[in-house]
Amino acid sequence: MTRMYFFALVLLMISSMLKTAYSCNLARSCKQIYKRSSSPVTGEYQLYTPNGTKFDVFCDFYDRHGYTFVSKEGLGVLTNLSQLFTNRSHVLVRINQTDGLQKDVKIAPHSQLKHKYPISFQLSQAVGYSVPLNATMKPYIHLGLLPESYERNQTALGYQAAGEDITFINCDSNPISYLAFLANPSSLLPNDYYKRCCKSNVVDAWIKKATNTTSSRLLPEKYLYYLEMHMGDCGGYVSRDSFPKVAWASVGFRFDL
Ligand SMILES: *[C@@H]1O[C@H](CO)[C@@H](O)[C@H](O)[C@H]1NC(C)=O
Ligand SMILES: *[C@@H]1O[C@H](CO)[C@@H](O)[C@H](O)[C@H]1NC(C)=O
Ligand SMILES: *[C@@H]1O[C@H](CO)[C@@H](O)[C@H](O)[C@H]1NC(C)=O
Ligand SMILES: *[C@@H]1O[C@H](CO)[C@@H](O)[C@H](O)[C@H]1NC(C)=O
Ligand SMILES: *[C@@H]1O[C@H](CO)[C@@H](O)[C@H](O)[C@H]1NC(C)=O
Ligand SMILES: *[C@@H]1O[C@H](CO)[C@@H](O)[C@H](O)[C@H]1NC(C)=O
Ligand SMILES: *[C@@H]1O[C@H](CO)[C@@H](O)[C@H](O)[C@H]1NC(C)=O
Repeated sequence: MTRMYFFALVLLMISSMLKTAYSCNLARSCKQIYKRSSSPVTGEYQLYTPNGTKFDVFCDFYDRHGYTFVSKEGLGVLTNLSQLFTNRSHVLVRINQTDGLQKDVKIAPHSQLKHKYPISFQLSQAVGYSVPLNATMKPYIHLGLLPESYERNQTALGYQAAGEDITFINCDSNPISYLAFLANPSSLLPNDYYKRCCKSNVVDAWIKKATNTTSSRLLPEKYLYYLEMHMGDCGGYVSRDSFPKVAWASVGFRFDL
């Protein structure tokens, strides 16, 4: 009897040890993958949500920091973006051009606004911010640069691209200010608003500032999203279709070691 009891106890201990080891090995973030490896390699990995669902990410590693790009399918199983980043100071946007080139540009809040309004990251919603025109292409990543609560005066607004402030005057007191990356799993047709309105130097600037992506960091197709940017109201509106050369885009969330 005591022997059987002892046996059962040992079995229980082994199984719980295995379970712990197993759940510890399931990476929850690119940061964990970076820390566990002696020479981390930029590329595709699988992460796990808190309930154990797998999803694909592209971990883009640099010196003691990096960026997490989530696949379009992966975005569909996430309920929370927080395991993808530790740092909201900026994001790394990677564009895929129609000529096959990919380009990188860092996007951040305007230097005069960032202390009050850090970028907001939301998943398929835009609480306190303007909703993308093509929100039915959800799931989507919403990067809010200025909340609707921003004083609706005719003040200077803007954002930062590649370290430079892009400023404009808010002509009608409408603080729309977001970038959205839409997975569009059902391949819905885009809003044709872009044909009527309003490509400008403001919404164009970051595309012009993008620089060639290093060949080892090129994103595969499944990380490339439909793109929308709206800077309201006098900043302009663009979608992926506004640019003859832009095919798709993706957003890398920063983490630091
Ligand atoms: C985990 O959550 C996802 C949604 O995030 C859901 O689709 C899936 O069914 C859940 N899996 C389990 C095992 O609960
Ligand atoms: C998202 O997950 C983080 C922990 O990873 C938690 O602190 C936060 O409350 C979660 N947010 C929501 C909206 O569930
Ligand atoms: C904006 O207008 C509000 C009143 O509507 C005022 O309290 C605030 O000081 C103004 N802000 C600026 C920057 O002018
Ligand atoms: C995009 O938005 C426009 C109007 O805002 C709407 O008419 C159109 O159905 C939308 N398309 C999708 C795919 O969401
Ligand atoms: C970017 O890459 C393209 C194609 O390889 C090349 O023609 C171009 O000169 C590169 N631009 C810069 C600034 O290196
Ligand atoms: C980038 O876009 C072009 C044009 O849409 C496409 O042919 C190419 O396969 C894309 N590249 C990647 C890596 O997805
Ligand atoms: C977040 O990123 C910025 C660069 O934009 C860096 O200067 C800062 O140290 C990072 N914060 C942390 C906590 O690592």
